[in-house]
Amino acid sequence: MSITSSDPIPQSHHVPWYRSAVVYQVYPRSFSDSDGDGVGDLPGVTSRLEHLVRLGVDALWLSPFYRSPMADFGYDVSDHCDVDPSFGTIADADELVDAAHRRDLRVILDWIPNHVSSEHPWFAAARSSLDDPHRDWFVWRDPAPDGGPPNNWRAAFGDRPAWTLDEATGQHYLHLFLPEQPDLDWNHPGVVEAMHGVLRFWLDRGVDGFRADVVHCIGKDAALEDLPDDLAALPAMLADFGPGTHEQLRRIRRLVDAYPGDRMVVGETYVLSSERMATYLGRGDELHLAFNFSAFHAPWDAARWRDEVETVQSLLDPVGGWPTWVLSNHDAPRHRTRLGSESRARAAAVLLLALRGTPFLYMGEELGLEDALVPPERAVDPGGRDGCRAPIPWHRDPSADWGPDPWLPLPPDAGARSAEAQYDDPGSMFEHYRRLLRLRRWLPALHRGDMELLDAPEGVLRWRRSATPGPGDDPRAPRAVEVAVNFRSEEVDEAIAEGEWLGGTSLPGEAVEPGRLGPDEARIVAAG
Ligand code: GLC
Repeated sequence: MSITSSDPIPQSHHVPWYRSAVVYQVYPRSFSDSDGDGVGDLPGVTSRLEHLVRLGVDALWLSPFYRSPMADFGYDVSDHCDVDPSFGTIADADELVDAAHRRDLRVILDWIPNHVSSEHPWFAAARSSLDDPHRDWFVWRDPAPDGGPPNNWRAAFGDRPAWTLDEATGQHYLHLFLPEQPDLDWNHPGVVEAMHGVLRFWLDRGVDGFRADVVHCIGKDAALEDLPDDLAALPAMLADFGPGTHEQLRRIRRLVDAYPGDRMVVGETYVLSSERMATYLGRGDELHLAFNFSAFHAPWDAARWRDEVETVQSLLDPVGGWPTWVLSNHDAPRHRTRLGSESRARAAAVLLLALRGTPFLYMGEELGLEDALVPPERAVDPGGRDGCRAPIPWHRDPSADWGPDPWLPLPPDAGARSAEAQYDDPGSMFEHYRRLLRLRRWLPALHRGDMELLDAPEGVLRWRRSATPGPGDDPRAPRAVEVAVNFRSEEVDEAIAEGEWLGGTSLPGEAVEPGRLGPDEARIVAAG
């Protein structure tokens, strides 16, 4: 029996952990270096778990640490079931997962289903001959009649086609990213089975879920038609590849849901509209969560954010979907850099942590880090993303953390921005995030409540969150709160209700003007 769009979506009262959690992204190469070689590693991550506990997040997402030639710094995997020696060993991965679980932190791994490294044994076999059993695990096509690439798709990095000619066998292979990242063909049952096997390998080791890299790209129709002219100049990874992806996602969902403990998949649905992003949640039977890049790329503008929030609610509520919010990650300039001031970044933290949905933090945003300035001779990433990947400064003297030769330059003001310099300083960015996370955990209205947008003066986004108390909630916690964020650097009257101050950009105990927001101010007040 198949479900049709008119059937009601089954409702459940169980709130899975990933709907109330705050997730923290760790880019292992730049998080913490345990052996002073200038490259972060898994024992380094384990040694810093207390930072995450102190901050008050619930889960960590680890960017890839698998064996890789590092053409795309780990997003080119040559063995999905082993750890790259630069990061440690499989025993280090197991120890990290166990150590996180002992601290009640969940662990999500990156899973890269669309492509592998050109050095993966599957691809080495595939390119060895036209009739190798692995040949059809990848997407091969004859050259176009003029000898050029088989269609008009462009790769994501470098101004080049998404095809490379393999001279030995005379065919082109598809790569939506680098030539060193050939795309798998999910139309081949062997690929589906092998990539499902990777999920099982890590689920059996106890991980809580996956962040699925460009997962909207896996269901490509075998016809591989040209993109229309308006899309042909953009990377083909942004395209809609047809219904095949949805069928693959339903199978992945069934696999993951068969494990106990609310394992989950959050998809890197890097598409141009929220409307399309929402389709990958299916009817509660595809991805558990999906990143929304429309909001991620939204400018710092109250009207635009109001629109993003309304759009997401209108798309996700009817299918029982749950939003996600992200301001920074390893692929784009940090929001502290984009917004241009620390005070705006503080207001943005209130926005991120008080909207309805699961927030994802990117390591270092809790320290207010800016992108590193990377001189051309030190640039290493083919996608120009080095700045946001600068190593995290832990001590006032970060050379103690990264040795004399960190793989990338440190971020600006590294010593003053270090964790050591910020811990216990009430005015620091770290303590700002920490207070917000504590408040969020304490208030059901913030971590699981409903949300209603309220009218507000221009330049202000204002909303109300409320939740029915449940078992385990502190009976003293207000049931409802009002939040307002001033996106402008000037004062605004009648911007927020006059309730008890609970949190925001000012310090606890600091005087605030009832009802009025200062420049770049964000405030959370009790509202019933
Ligand atoms: C995703 C990752 C990015 C990577 C690309 C190719 O967009 O976030 O870092 O380069 O996929 O795997």
